[in-house]
Amino acid sequence: MPLIAPSLLSADFLNLQHDCDMLNDSEADWFHLDVMDGRFVPNISFGPMLVEFFRKSTNKVCDVHLMIEEPEKYAEAFKKAGADNLTIHIEACKHLHRNIQQIKSLGMKAGIAVNPHTPVHSLQDILADIDLVCIMSVNPGFGGQSFIPHTINKIKELKQMILEKGLAVKIEVDGGVTLGNAPAIIDAGADVLVAGNSVFKSSDPAATIAALKAL
Ligand code: DX5
Ligand code: ZN
Repeated sequence: MPLIAPSLLSADFLNLQHDCDMLNDSEADWFHLDVMDGRFVPNISFGPMLVEFFRKSTNKVCDVHLMIEEPEKYAEAFKKAGADNLTIHIEACKHLHRNIQQIKSLGMKAGIAVNPHTPVHSLQDILADIDLVCIMSVNPGFGGQSFIPHTINKIKELKQMILEKGLAVKIEVDGGVTLGNAPAIIDAGADVLVAGNSVFKSSDPAATIAALKAL
């Protein structure tokens, strides 16, 4: 059974309380919070201040996905805001190992996200140090994009690497996840499904979450 992490990027920002209540009453496992800086990705979303409000609105895991340059400058602020998981992009880090140690020393679970063009074997020498890999199945920056099919092979390859090393690293898949493609994504080895549009734009978001969870 996968963990379901709805992405609040697709929520109604004028009615966040409503959407948080819906998630709290649903079978969602994590709140997936997408932070964008307009530099690493061509869009700006929100920062620690909003994460703090989400933290206050839920007891569920706050899974913060940083799509930002120089994440080391902000790790402490996101810890203070209440992040449980902090995921940074391999493409944004010159000193990835150091950044991962910083996140763990602050008491958060550490994740690494990889863009669609980044091979998963680039994680070979850091896999044992992290809790989560976020496989981007769209180019990061926007909700509502289409799933990039070759990502399925990356999930399988990463799953194999994790099993060979005997690790408990979770595989999260982020971007374009729907009820239609989720079975193949889970079969390939995903543990956590992020879903923005397919949840929040559906006629019954809580039912969609339950349907994803039941896969
Ligand atoms: C993309 C974000 C995703 C996105 C997912 O840059 O990291 O979390 O909001 O949204 P959907 O499911 O609509 O692709
Ligand atoms: Zn995300």
